[in-house]
Amino acid sequence: MIKPDGLSGNYTDRIKNLISDSGFTICKERIIQLDEESVMSFYAEHSSRSFFGSLVKYMTSGPVLLMILEKENAVADWRALIGPTDASKAKVTHPHSIRALCGLDSEKNCVHGSDSPQSAQREISFFFEEKISGRIVPKH
Ligand code: CMP
Repeated sequence: MIKPDGLSGNYTDRIKNLISDSGFTICKERIIQLDEESVMSFYAEHSSRSFFGSLVKYMTSGPVLLMILEKENAVADWRALIGPTDASKAKVTHPHSIRALCGLDSEKNCVHGSDSPQSAQREISFFFEEKISGRIVPKH
């Protein structure tokens, strides 16, 4: 997922180039403006964290680009390509990562990646099988 700061910062083309240069195929994609309910459900595992309210606000601040990426070892390789959660640290420790390129801090980190094949399955079905509420943003 390219998060609202990634889309509004015009990083989409650069991120897509990194995706294809790294051997991923984009099987499906859609842009959607998530609503609070969808974000709260998607990030339910973080609901007790102090940053949850702020995370919901951030993730509803603009549209996101959802993608299904395909590749051998895709989950681990995508996590490696995006770098650590805290983008400010990524800039130091993983300067070539996507979060180093376009993220800001531990919240506004520009992209998301599933953390296991099981969560990839859940997240793909959550976003691509009409289980979310929100507004589909047409592509230009
Ligand atoms: P993501 O990898 O999508 O998964 C959970 C998200 O919660 C994470 O990216 C960040 O956007 C946010 N997050 C994680 N840790 C923190 C934190 N310590 N402070 C604020 N936001 C966080």
